[in-house]
Amino acid sequence: MFLFFRDGLTPIPLPLYSQISIFMTHLSNYGNDRLGLYTFRKLVKFLQTWTHLKLQTLPPVQLAQRYFQIFPEERDPLWQDPCEDKRHKDIWSKEKTCDRFPKLLIIGPQKTGTTALYLFLGMHPDLTSNYPSKETFEEIQFFNGHNYHRGIDWYMEYFPLPSNTSSDFYFEKSANYFDSEVAARRAAALLPKAKIITILINPADRAYSWYQHQRAHDDPLALRYTFHEVITATHNAPLKLRVLQNRCLVPGWYSTHMDRWLSHYHPSQVLVLDGQMLRTEPAAVMDKIQKFLGLVNTVNYHKILAFDPKKGFWCQLLDGGKTKCLGKSKGRKYPDMDSDSRAFLKEHYRDHNVELSKLLYRIGQPLPGWLREELLNSR
Ligand code: A3P
Repeated sequence: MFLFFRDGLTPIPLPLYSQISIFMTHLSNYGNDRLGLYTFRKLVKFLQTWTHLKLQTLPPVQLAQRYFQIFPEERDPLWQDPCEDKRHKDIWSKEKTCDRFPKLLIIGPQKTGTTALYLFLGMHPDLTSNYPSKETFEEIQFFNGHNYHRGIDWYMEYFPLPSNTSSDFYFEKSANYFDSEVAARRAAALLPKAKIITILINPADRAYSWYQHQRAHDDPLALRYTFHEVITATHNAPLKLRVLQNRCLVPGWYSTHMDRWLSHYHPSQVLVLDGQMLRTEPAAVMDKIQKFLGLVNTVNYHKILAFDPKKGFWCQLLDGGKTKCLGKSKGRKYPDMDSDSRAFLKEHYRDHNVELSKLLYRIGQPLPGWLREELLNSR
């Protein structure tokens, strides 16, 4: 057993079965509280005299290494909601407030219309989006990757200082959250009351759109291999191609990813949108979202969105009748998917789609139109 203590204030019952016990109080007590140290020394002496316990310690760095060897799952921090516990909130600096965290996350997945939704939400006077990331010019991508280690102050900086009227409702969208192994757990630890929106389109179309997106971004592998070659690559294929294949196909395993989010968030906090409907009837979808968020001011999106025939999509209607649409990278023109790939993906996603339908039934949310069609056609 290892015993590590920086300073001790209150006598703490020693957990005998723990391999490592860490005792710590706030450092500020260290200089002032001699009684704490005295008590601790006495406690150690008592244990050495009256028990057969063998106490050991190590210098801090070695002890940390030993600790993380035993508890590798604790290597990653997990930022908790600082306002959950009044004592934590009280020691937080006065300028900081949990109102500066988002109350809504658009989690993706990529290529389902997340940017359009982000634009439409930003048109609502009561909703405020994050500032664009300096690195990606768009998404913050806090919960899924290395940014998480930059801490919650870094995250908060992406949102304006809340006004005192405090009807602020911040939101952010990072489309990679959906299929990230870690994002749901991390998001739920920091934002347990947040609402979560995901958009689902036919996973086959999503995979194809993603492939086209990679080609448009000059991904050399996506330029080298056809879509069919990417999705059908076997175990013998070059590793890089397999990696590309996973990135293309795995986000479409919707039920697996949804299950993960639902193991951290109550179903009433989660809204699943039909991406096809967002594309064709965005105003109706926005009505549904406003209800889900419980917004007091309801905006009539029928009046502020307009279909732009040139773009082929719904766009923001500006004063004077002009439209502001998403840039060239959204709603790209590319050839239809070949029928062999379509057939392959139908098979590939069949079980995942069946599981998704069960999951949606379980949480009482309607099946998207494309999912109904897939299920009907797969009989
Ligand atoms: P394509 O470019 O393949 O057509 P995301 O923003 O999540 O990356 O999704 C991009 C997709 O959003 C586009 O894929 C497009 O089909 C879809 N989309 C839905 N509504 C849109 C809109 N109003 N404007 C542009 N694209 C929209």
